[in-house]
Amino acid sequence: MSSFQAPRGTFDVLPADCERRALLEAHAQRILGAAGYGRIETPAFEPTELFARGVGEATDIVRKEMYTFDDGGGRSLTLRPEGTAPVCRAYLEHGMHRLAQPVKLWYLSSFFRAEAPQKGRYRQFWQVGAEAIGSDEPATDAELILLLADLLESLGIRGTRLRLSSLGTPATRADYRQELIAFLRAHEDGLSPEVVARIDLNPMRAFDAGDRRTRETMRDAPLLLHRLAPEDAEHFAAVRELLDGAGLRYELDPTLVRGLDYYTRTVFEFTSDALGAQSGVGGGGRYDGLVQQLGGDPTPAAGWAAGVERMLLAAGELPVAPAVVDLFVAVAVAGDGGRREDRTRVTGTAFELANRARRAGLSAQMELAGRSLKGQLRQADRIGAGWVAIIDGPMQVTLKNMGSGEQSQLEPAAAIAEILRGGRL
Ligand code: HAM
Repeated sequence: MSSFQAPRGTFDVLPADCERRALLEAHAQRILGAAGYGRIETPAFEPTELFARGVGEATDIVRKEMYTFDDGGGRSLTLRPEGTAPVCRAYLEHGMHRLAQPVKLWYLSSFFRAEAPQKGRYRQFWQVGAEAIGSDEPATDAELILLLADLLESLGIRGTRLRLSSLGTPATRADYRQELIAFLRAHEDGLSPEVVARIDLNPMRAFDAGDRRTRETMRDAPLLLHRLAPEDAEHFAAVRELLDGAGLRYELDPTLVRGLDYYTRTVFEFTSDALGAQSGVGGGGRYDGLVQQLGGDPTPAAGWAAGVERMLLAAGELPVAPAVVDLFVAVAVAGDGGRREDRTRVTGTAFELANRARRAGLSAQMELAGRSLKGQLRQADRIGAGWVAIIDGPMQVTLKNMGSGEQSQLEPAAAIAEILRGGRL
């Protein structure tokens, strides 16, 4: 065992995991690509200020969970904890407001949060995300939600629930905030000390508290959903009608709290029963003020992100096709047998044959471990090779069909033609 291990809260993605991830990526590409979303990749780190301003100084993410460092020149950088602020930064930096709106972008990237690790919660994790920037149409919100529902369904994720709410505009929220703070102050006796300590910093979090006493007190708390301005209520009603029309089931949850401050109007979250405590598979909402907050013109936008690890945990078995090995190239003189020059010559022929096979579109592996011929044939069997080519001499190959056991002696080019004729087993 090595004296090193992957840092706490991080993990290695091994080949079998990569296959499941590739499948997820293909589903995301198909579903989002077909809806006109173009893929984007932004840098792994950004100016710290982007997240402080974008995600919000009062959020847990910005207060406690960012990996922040000095770039050596006195500038503060942060490993991206989320993708929405970077995508909006890119939208502005590349003048995408001049394109036809909305600009629809998707990503599959890694993100970093210094959270307490547990199952489904890591310090480096991956998200699939989608952002539609430049539209305030309720259809944008509804389409985004349906696209995420499609993605989860395509992965066979069971037991999903969709929770939906609206946060209104910042002005409504500011008024409501005062009302909620007044309520919390008047009911401090019925709240946990942690909630009381954060009344002024983040009163909405009180709805999220786990302890029973706080939960009971919060039952009588005023709800933002009941304070929406008429145009916000209308927007929300339109989103709901579109989801109803599409037959997507959801639960109204007026206490839905998201961990990021940029949301306005619609917010939503998908959870899955297949997950433990970290049941949030994906979520998002509208963020009509963010682009302006980052220095752009007022630009409505909406989006979501879903955790790759959580989706894969909830998906269970995925139909990953076993790797196909068409050809294993064995050498008759391997290991210590024969003279070195002979070995080099024969290995050179094996090398050439494997390369030619790959160029012809076949998958070909060659002997790299100096095994005996018997050991090589066993290895070919173990990896399920359809054919084995044993290099006997510089221009001679014994080709064996591993299915039928038939074998014949051929020149290298003829051996490849024979495999192609026989097709993949
Ligand atoms: P978020 O809810 O913070 O939203 O993260 C979205 C998803 O990322 C979560 O539902 C979860 O599946 C996954 N996730 C978050 N933190 C972790 C973690 N530590 N380990 C594993 N998975 C995690 C956002 O990030 C917003 N940018 C979403 C959005 C896009 N809103 C609008 N556009």
